[in-house]
Amino acid sequence: MRLVLVGPPGAGKGTQAEYIAAELGVPKISTGDIFRSNVAGGTPLGIEAKSYMDAGDLVPDEVTNKMVADRLAQDDAAVGFLLDGYPRNTEQAQELDRRLGELNVALDGVLQLDVSDEEVIRRLSGRRVSRSTGKVYHLEFDPPQDADSEDLYQRDDDRPETISNRLKVYAEQTAPLVDFYRQQGKLVRIDALGPVSEVTKRALQALRQHT
Ligand code: AP5
Ligand code: ZN
Repeated sequence: MRLVLVGPPGAGKGTQAEYIAAELGVPKISTGDIFRSNVAGGTPLGIEAKSYMDAGDLVPDEVTNKMVADRLAQDDAAVGFLLDGYPRNTEQAQELDRRLGELNVALDGVLQLDVSDEEVIRRLSGRRVSRSTGKVYHLEFDPPQDADSEDLYQRDDDRPETISNRLKVYAEQTAPLVDFYRQQGKLVRIDALGPVSEVTKRALQALRQHT
């Protein structure tokens, strides 16, 4: 199965991708996670991406498309994949179609997670990540054992001013993708409000019906 997850920042893409990918037996490929691990490792890719990420802007297509192409060329992606956070504009979507076309394969579906701006702000402002395990928590919805632990940090781009730019970038550049995929008959839209396990159930059911 070759799938794309699309939705605003904080919609729960990373959280759902983990469960859906495991259920479907495909690798989860998250461009945000790959960028963040490059930033943490101080690689040339990370150094280039950091200023865009800190501002809440998209990293240039050339850099992102190449990074994804390299990842999709790895052996584990031959069985399928779940892309989290890519494509994020129509140029990236066209590039993905072109690359998959070369391999004689195509996307099976695009899952859209639908949540309000109000919920996005609630989810992003309460998000905390464990330094040691990488696990993502939420202070209210999925609280860590010790909310004051030194092990927990807030993502640099979860500051209020960066969140508002990320929402703007989503509305201007990523939301048009929804129409692009609807026209291709690939769009599967679900309500992403509610407990994580409920949303996963909804997603798997909708994907089974539509793909
Ligand atoms: P990226 O990491 O992809 O950020 P994003 O799209 O803004 O999404 P988030 O990771 O913030 O949210 P999410 O939807 O994964 O939510 P999560 O599951 O964590 O990208 C970061 C940056 O990298 C971009 O701004 C850009 O600079 C760059 N980049 C990445 N891809 C790019 C591309 N293709 N092109 C160019 N640049 C790119 O959940 C959020 C919180 O909510 C958590 O605390 C979680 O516990 C909680 N939560 C989850 N589900 C629920 C639920 N059902 N109920 C209650 N709480 C929930
Ligand atoms: Zn994410």
